[in-house]
Amino acid sequence: MRKDLYKVLVTEDQLRKRVQELGVEITHTYRNVDEITAIAIINGSIIFAADLIRQIDMPVRLDCMRVSSYRDDVKPIGIPEIIDKVLLDLQNRHVLLIDDILDTGNTFSQVVKSLRKLNPASLRVCVLLEKKGRREVPDAVPDFVGFQIPDEFVVGYGLDFAEHYRNLPVIGVLRPEAQNPPEWR
Ligand code: IMP
Ligand code: MG
Repeated sequence: MRKDLYKVLVTEDQLRKRVQELGVEITHTYRNVDEITAIAIINGSIIFAADLIRQIDMPVRLDCMRVSSYRDDVKPIGIPEIIDKVLLDLQNRHVLLIDDILDTGNTFSQVVKSLRKLNPASLRVCVLLEKKGRREVPDAVPDFVGFQIPDEFVVGYGLDFAEHYRNLPVIGVLRPEAQNPPEWR
């Protein structure tokens, strides 16, 4: 799988170290509250969320929501759609939304809008990666960011291309030839 990468952007060591730092930062931010509710956007943030919540040193409730924004390609399919909603109650809860990557910001703004309707006590957003130059929604500003990356399509550590490469332990950029593997079609 690694041979399909043109370059590695974030190594396993860098991921481990940064996720640990984010855990410390988040624990500090919520030092005056008893508990938080982490909401992971699946499938992309599943690996990041699993590692991150284990670095948060306080009680954490966990739920997931499923949002479609990309089908099985590198191009967005339009307005992100919430397919599976959160089941935990969020009323008066401190909610931490966890996503893999902030690209155009469309997913972020749709999800934040829908979570605000549930009247959380607070709502913060943590993304592993941020592609700054790509923002279409200017007010999509995350509270915690793992790494700023250039505008390139990345895979690994939960991020996919056509549902592949999520299990790569690093984050990297695919070779152009790997973006159309005949055996998947
Ligand atoms: P946004 O709505 O454009 O901000 O896109 C957010 C979603 O698009 C993420 O949660 C990812 O699932 C997907 N996405 C955006 N950029 C990439 C990428 O470079 N690699 C893999 N998935 C991506
Ligand atoms: Mg995806």
